[in-house]
Amino acid sequence: MNLKTARLELLPLDPGQHAEALHTVYGNAAVMRWWTSIPTGSVAQTRQLLAEEQARPDATLWALRRADDKLVIGMAGLLGGVAIPGLTWILAEQAWGQGFATEAATAVIDYAFRHVGHDRVEAWVESTNTRSMAVCRKTGLTERGRLSQRYEHREQPHETIVFGRAKKSDPISVLHLDPVLQVADVSATVELLRTALAARVSFTVGEPADMAGLVFGPWSTGPGVRLVRRPAQECAPLEFGLDVSAGFADLYQAVAASGVTGIEPPADKPWGNREFAFRLPEGHRIVVSAPG
Ligand SMILES: CC(C)(COP(=O)(O)OP(=O)(O)OC[C@H]1O[C@@H](n2cnc3c(N)ncnc32)[C@H](O)[C@@H]1OP(=O)(O)O)[C@@H](O)C(=O)NCCC(=O)NCCS
Repeated sequence: MNLKTARLELLPLDPGQHAEALHTVYGNAAVMRWWTSIPTGSVAQTRQLLAEEQARPDATLWALRRADDKLVIGMAGLLGGVAIPGLTWILAEQAWGQGFATEAATAVIDYAFRHVGHDRVEAWVESTNTRSMAVCRKTGLTERGRLSQRYEHREQPHETIVFGRAKKSDPISVLHLDPVLQVADVSATVELLRTALAARVSFTVGEPADMAGLVFGPWSTGPGVRLVRRPAQECAPLEFGLDVSAGFADLYQAVAASGVTGIEPPADKPWGNREFAFRLPEGHRIVVSAPG
């Protein structure tokens, strides 16, 4: 289905027809810096990449054609093969800075909500991709969470921000899931987790502490745990995982040097992640994980 905006015509993507024009986009390293794959080396490769993106289940992609000069300047649409409807956009470098991506994304979101009947859309954006984040914000998407990803062509994982917009506001919004660890000595555990995982204390209750809240990271909020004091023999061991992006090796060094017990050194897991683990004195097992 064709869509129209003030300055653009959105034409159902046809790799055969649009690959040549879109090769200036997909073949440009500056544009592809944040893409999930490397720049294409020929029109044929661009055609193949477009065909692959379009072949994913439920993918709905459009070529963006400027209404005035009929130049195809990019692609936008709904990704295929994703659990939550996902937005995608890319523009030729010379078309940046003129509002075309925001204009196209607005039309795609309207299509997703009104035509397809989706109740939400997401966009996954690398945390350094400021232009793409600006498109999210201008089209009403807000940050919902962060995760660690590693693209096949890259050595290192990166931090991805998941932006989302619901058609209607959600009745319940869970902001955090904080495990509650029963520990014999709250202050000692705070010290251990500060040294091992650079945890920050967000609050303590009691002196000596009966309870404490910890956040993993330097900010006021983020993933964390709560600690509550219990007699050692009553502490029920828990197990939880921490996903990290960069710094996995440094974190392991800090944990190994912190004096914790039950260390399981880094190993590649069948699900593609690299993980290490350790235990707190009460038997709580903490698994630290990063894309392999
Ligand atoms: C992400 C990307 C599509 C954003 O393109 P963009 O042109 O910056 O985005 P917009 O369409 O929102 O344009 C915004 C700019 O146009 C300007 N503008 C000019 N006329 C405008 C108008 N009529 N309406 C809105 N903005 C306008 C804005 O002021 C803003 O300028 P600025 O960049 O100087 O702040 C582009 O950078 C890109 O192709 N990146 C590589 C691919 C990529 O990363 N895709 C996303 C992966 S998650």
